[in-house]
Amino acid sequence: MYRILTALAGMALATACGPESAPAGSAAVAAPAADTVPGRWYTEAQVAAGEPLYQAHCAVCHGADGSATPDWRKTDANGNFPPPPLNGTAHTWHHPLVVLTETIEKGGAQYGGLMPGFAQVIDADGRLAVVAYIQSWWTDDIYARWDEIDRR
Ligand code: HEC
Repeated sequence: MYRILTALAGMALATACGPESAPAGSAAVAAPAADTVPGRWYTEAQVAAGEPLYQAHCAVCHGADGSATPDWRKTDANGNFPPPPLNGTAHTWHHPLVVLTETIEKGGAQYGGLMPGFAQVIDADGRLAVVAYIQSWWTDDIYARWDEIDRR
């Protein structure tokens, strides 16, 4: 699947790089990649790249579909929070992109949490791809609320 998407992205790029075809007036805005998901910051290729990373490193705690742990507000006997759902049903959408990628990079220790950091395991592009994959679960409504926070 990933290969197909990458191939498609490559083809789309090749087409996009043809002779000057951008309409006048659009020069000020950087052209989004050809496979940008409509209304979102990320591309289909990033979602595809994020999936195997997520399933390999995150699913064990956050669930294959990002739905663990429904009772995420409840701390355990030691006062620690469980891995919250990342699928848009908890409060992950309160965090701007930079906080999300930093959480993946450095883990929860910076907030007194238990989540391990992945700085040595997933590079910066990979961390963005994982966030793209997570956000592909979010409804447009949740995404719009996040987008507002991310722009602040
Ligand atoms: C060992 C279990 C574990 C693994 C593996 C893990 N997490 Fe977490 N994650 C947690 C816990 C527990 C929290 C709650 C904060 C804390 O204790 O650090 C959390 C919090 C988060 C948050 C903040 C969510 C919010 O709503 O504030 C994000 C985002 C996140 N994890 C993403 C990931 C991603 C992406 C991966 C894989 C690269 C991952 N986690 C791997 C346990 C884990």
